[in-house]
Amino acid sequence: MLLDTYGRVATDLRVSLTDRCNLRCTYCMPEEGLQWLAKPKLLTDDEIVRLIQVAVTGLGIEEVRFTGGEPLLRPGLPGIIERCARLSPRPKISLTTNGIGLERTAHALHAAGLDRINVSLDTLRPEVFQQLTRRKRHADVLRGLAAGRAAGLTPVKVNTVLMPGLNDDEAPDLLAWAMEHGYELRFIEQMPLDAQHGWHREGMITAGDILTSLRSRFTLTPEGEEERGSAPAERWIIDGGPHRVGVIASVTRPFCSACDRTRLTADGQVRTCLFATEESDLRGALRDGASDEEIMALWKRAMWGKKAGAGIDDPSFVQPDRPMSAIGG
Ligand code: GTP
Ligand code: 5AD
Ligand code: SF4
Repeated sequence: MLLDTYGRVATDLRVSLTDRCNLRCTYCMPEEGLQWLAKPKLLTDDEIVRLIQVAVTGLGIEEVRFTGGEPLLRPGLPGIIERCARLSPRPKISLTTNGIGLERTAHALHAAGLDRINVSLDTLRPEVFQQLTRRKRHADVLRGLAAGRAAGLTPVKVNTVLMPGLNDDEAPDLLAWAMEHGYELRFIEQMPLDAQHGWHREGMITAGDILTSLRSRFTLTPEGEEERGSAPAERWIIDGGPHRVGVIASVTRPFCSACDRTRLTADGQVRTCLFATEESDLRGALRDGASDEEIMALWKRAMWGKKAGAGIDDPSFVQPDRPMSAIGG
């Protein structure tokens, strides 16, 4: 079991499959992209499956989520999912994606064993999408979402980051649209994880702002704490139900005390938190011929060092060197 000194147990593994992406969201990376990880540094498909197998069979991991960058850019994704789904006990398998290319792959991924997807979409307006992501791919994302739902990758969740002056007036429209299409919408507070280090506390849209905006059109009733468990999103019931909306308020209402996550970067480093300042090198151990027991011991030791929380709102907060796209969202 992956226990830390605060008594939390990690049962949720997030695996970044690549740091590359086909969008350039302004809150994530610069227009020109980043210095991508060199191929030899990336874990191979076999190495990824081996580490997941160790985590699931030996360390109590119950859910595996594939992230990026953009995980659909990894050619081996269907095979990785298929091998993951054959593990015993079988973990729950989910994917966080920008939705581009999902139209073509949703059925095959579901057939391989993918259970559900979370798709990033920040706006209903194609021209704002282009400003936010610097790419003309809005229609692809909408088609990807519909294909995911049709393939049974449900519940389909939609992740939205609101940016001042760009899409911060869209919260009620996005919610009405999500309810109409059967997607579960979650708003995410912008976090200091952009490669450009351009985040400012004063310049972000807070959970409070989002709720005020939604309440201009909907009645929101908080869902009970017991229904939340370790989920990052706090949820509200809309107009008496059955629909819900979530807010992931990592800055103003952090959920670190209930965190049940461990992460693996695309280059094989364990991170205990999005905001961790240290990493543990499992790739090196793997390539030096470590046994399953040795990998388990390394992973457990890493998690034992997990900090109490991210502390983004603390004056002493320091942004991690690695951006979100390299850590895995
Ligand atoms: P569900 O199991 O569907 O609730 O997944 P999720 O919300 O954990 O996954 P997703 O990949 O969709 O993440 C959505 C957002 O949650 C990310 O963009 C982050 O903003 C936030 N998030 C994910 N993991 C962490 C974490 O470990 N710490 C913090 N503070 N935020 C996180
Ligand atoms: N702050 C908050 N969310 C972010 N994402 C990417 N960068 C940031 C950031 N700096 C979101 C994406 C995606 C999810 C995995 O993380 O929009 O939905
Ligand atoms: Fe790509 Fe996600 Fe970063 Fe946008 S937020 S550029 S979709 S990795």
